[in-house]
Amino acid sequence: MGKSKKPEKIIYLCDGKKCCKYNSEVKECFKDLVEEAGLKHQVAIQKMDCQGMCKQAPVICIHKKECVGNISKKDAKKLFEKHIA
Ligand code: FES
Repeated sequence: MGKSKKPEKIIYLCDGKKCCKYNSEVKECFKDLVEEAGLKHQVAIQKMDCQGMCKQAPVICIHKKECVGNISKKDAKKLFEKHIA
């Protein structure tokens, strides 16, 4: 067995009370994008705690660099292209 490599990039989805009500579509969208790009081993999708931006739910951060709220599927695609693909 080889060593499991750490993912190079992480997409954090806020899993706080408010965001988890709204983030399932975006979560699926990111999962699909990662899979379509063949980056399953390079990109991880993880949960994070409330970011204090609940009014903008759902909130995501890409590699803790850019936290954005009010994410739609369209935004998810744009962010993925900008930071991941
Ligand atoms: S629950 Fe997501 S920012 Fe608060």
